[in-house]
Amino acid sequence: MAELVCFSENCRARFPITEVIYNCPHCGGLLETMYEAPEQSALMLKRVWRERRASNMPLDQSGVWRYREFIPFLNSYNCVVTLREGNTPLLEARQAAQYGGLDQLVFKHQGYNPTGSFKDNGMTCGTAQALRLGMSRVACVSTGNTSASMAAYASAAGLQPIIFIPHGNISYGKLAQALEYGARTLQVEANFDQILALVRQLAEKLGIYLLNSINPFRIEGQKTIMTEMLDQRDWRVPDWVVLPGGNLGNTSAFGKALREMKELGLIDRLPRLAVIQAEGAAPFYELAHQPAKARRKAVLKAVEHPETLATAIKIGDPVSWPKALFEVSNSEGVVERVSEQEIADAKAVIGRCGIGCEPASAATLAGLRKLTAAGTIRADEDVVAVLTGHVLKDPDFIYKYHTGSLQTPDGALIRSTFGNQPVVVPYDSDEIAKVLES
Ligand code: F0G
Repeated sequence: MAELVCFSENCRARFPITEVIYNCPHCGGLLETMYEAPEQSALMLKRVWRERRASNMPLDQSGVWRYREFIPFLNSYNCVVTLREGNTPLLEARQAAQYGGLDQLVFKHQGYNPTGSFKDNGMTCGTAQALRLGMSRVACVSTGNTSASMAAYASAAGLQPIIFIPHGNISYGKLAQALEYGARTLQVEANFDQILALVRQLAEKLGIYLLNSINPFRIEGQKTIMTEMLDQRDWRVPDWVVLPGGNLGNTSAFGKALREMKELGLIDRLPRLAVIQAEGAAPFYELAHQPAKARRKAVLKAVEHPETLATAIKIGDPVSWPKALFEVSNSEGVVERVSEQEIADAKAVIGRCGIGCEPASAATLAGLRKLTAAGTIRADEDVVAVLTGHVLKDPDFIYKYHTGSLQTPDGALIRSTFGNQPVVVPYDSDEIAKVLES
């Protein structure tokens, strides 16, 4: 049986899985889904999940629903719409490892998803729940990737997607996706945090189902990123999982997944989580770096005007911070922050590996470089860094970096340390040969 349970330690109120709530009606706490343990043993689950990789059934071909015993909130799979999300590779990256101060480094690249980000893992679940509840409209506020993903999944499911985005603050790649997938797109002149507060009121007033990451079913889908990663590693647990932190839904999802996999006997220990934020939008870093005594009772202090070129994580008041704080502490994890220059350079290094990612994702490698330099992570440790979005999500950033015209939000020029300028040449083979030999 599945239930919604209040995450707040002092409340733990329980609600039917079909209740349309995003916060606990008693205490306002975050909600999470809870289940009875599956009937199958860990060994059986591992075998069934592996066998499904050879199946032609859409549900089995999904890198989310393949692991359906791990996210059993539905009582029927008729309402599932899959675009074959998940199925993202583990990629070894030698140059990035060296740059990050590690002997070896593996990226779990969520940019290989149908709409190019990890949001698809969660959105297939959120959409299924919306259909199960009989909703006709879904909404989200987004820094771009959630909206692109929601637009695709809602349209595929025959639901109307309505998205709210901070005007002028999302990349064109992401905005273009939302338009192409047919979302009603509202550009609001406010920042992410302000718009989220507004949309929560609107959703209730108009009976629209909210698909932001406070939606606990999205978190369930994102859990499978960790399940798939471990399945691909034959259940060998890494020492560290590194990921960027914005609204902190993914941190919450990874922590819950790893905890639950340990409880089910699928793994025997937890990897440590390392969450990386951009310096200009790092309220979670500040929270996690309070003295240990103060931290237990600490409340996140929002950054009123978050600033970073990594617009995906330009969030000053992350809603999932209580869950994320618990998961980071529980895994004996760390939180680091990195500068705009560090993000930009790390991103170019990931590009040189032939892999590429969007700016927010590159915070992982920039963070790793700092954490190994500080001795927090040893060079010989086993590290998986999660790249959250595709390289083509933000081509404007790339062009400016390589041509030396990228500026930080306060106008300072970013050095193109690994710049790669395109060269204009005349239509003349001798001249071109000269350029190539020089
Ligand atoms: N990386 C990318 C590419 C993202 O799009 C996001 C979040 C994050 C990292 C941070 O993840 O919020 O779970 O901590 N993007 C959201 C959006 C906020 O609206 O697309 P988080």
